[in-house]
Amino acid sequence: MLNGEKKIARPLRWGMVGGGRTGQVGYKHRTGALRDGTYQLLAGAFDLDADRGRDFGTNLGVAEDRCYATYQDFIAGETAREDGVEVVSIATPNFTHFEITMACLKAGLHVICEKPLFFSVAECDAVAKLAADKGLILGVTYGFTGHPLVHQMAAMVKKGMLGDIRIVDMQYTHGFNSGDDVGAGEAVKWRTNPETAGPTFVLGDIGTHLYYLSEVVLPHMKIEKLLCDRKAFIATRAPLEDHATVLTHYDNGARGRLWASSVNAGNMGSQRYRFVGSKASLEWSDAHPDQLIYEVQGEPNRTLHHGMPYLEDESLAADRMGALHTEGLGDSWANIYLWIAQAIDARMRGDEAFLQTHHYPGIEAGTEGVRWLENCVRSADAGAAWVEYN
Ligand code: NAI
Repeated sequence: MLNGEKKIARPLRWGMVGGGRTGQVGYKHRTGALRDGTYQLLAGAFDLDADRGRDFGTNLGVAEDRCYATYQDFIAGETAREDGVEVVSIATPNFTHFEITMACLKAGLHVICEKPLFFSVAECDAVAKLAADKGLILGVTYGFTGHPLVHQMAAMVKKGMLGDIRIVDMQYTHGFNSGDDVGAGEAVKWRTNPETAGPTFVLGDIGTHLYYLSEVVLPHMKIEKLLCDRKAFIATRAPLEDHATVLTHYDNGARGRLWASSVNAGNMGSQRYRFVGSKASLEWSDAHPDQLIYEVQGEPNRTLHHGMPYLEDESLAADRMGALHTEGLGDSWANIYLWIAQAIDARMRGDEAFLQTHHYPGIEAGTEGVRWLENCVRSADAGAAWVEYN
């Protein structure tokens, strides 16, 4: 169980690009990073609007001269200081991720970047090479995979408690884009334009969360082929999709069904996962992250609760609040940030043995997310055809 005791020798000197006052995801980063004293927020280029960014940064307690107008000024200013930041989080629209990540890595900074990481696997490979050459860590904020019960599912699958996995059924939907985009805010505008969002809308925006979580729970299963059908119900969003379904064949013979949509009008269910094996099934939703439904064929159904001693060690190790008390998204993000901090700390100490076994969403996870998107687009653009996964 986690209780805030320090896990690394000293806090990492941390800065942010994006995630300003009007940004949707910025506070989730700060909620995660500032929880355990593993990061100290010292600088930022928080906003495209420099004055608003400075005002916001100083309200967060950042010194005025370390609230920069642009990410270029941020890098120049911080690398010129002996006490400059060591790690930077990038919480900006998708099209800026590659450029800002490359610039930060070149300047010798560890990076924590939002998903979808970049537009193409080729960009991911270029970043992976640069990070490796520089000896730097890149973390990806798949913020939902810090939930203790996600790791309970992974541990139960690993122990064979479900038997052979046969069906993977996943859904991340909401209805916030059911209407048209007339008068829509910035966050909708950049998400629905291929130049700023990349090759997908909902597949990259929410579908990648499903895919990464399934990789955490089912690391032994690889995709052999998939079929993706995507559609823009609001025509102005084409060629990007506001709705997609993906059928998957896995290398162990399992079948998958995934639904990502932002036009599921009225739906507030968010994410739902069902992993079906030959003996039993698991079902989990981030709407009730404290509960895991465990159904064994021929037995009464069970609801497992987070923090209970009957859970696997992997789950209890990620627990913060203890059983009976609500554990939620902020706790999940805190775990992701902690695991990335431990990776950066290990790299700084030259502790490669720790890194060999330490689990956190890194460059490989980000790359696999982009690879999955590329395959989905290839299938969809071929008329929802089955494509071999590559
Ligand atoms: P947003 O449009 O709400 O906010 C973007 C923020 O970045 C704003 O503060 C804006 O002023 C700032 N910004 C934009 N360009 C900048 C630049 N060049 N330099 C400095 N600041 C800049 O976007 P939102 O929804 O917060 O998404 C940001 C990223 O986070 C996207 O990649 C998105 O996919 C991802 N995201 C991830 C989530 C998760 O659960 N991991 C949840 C929501 C978004």
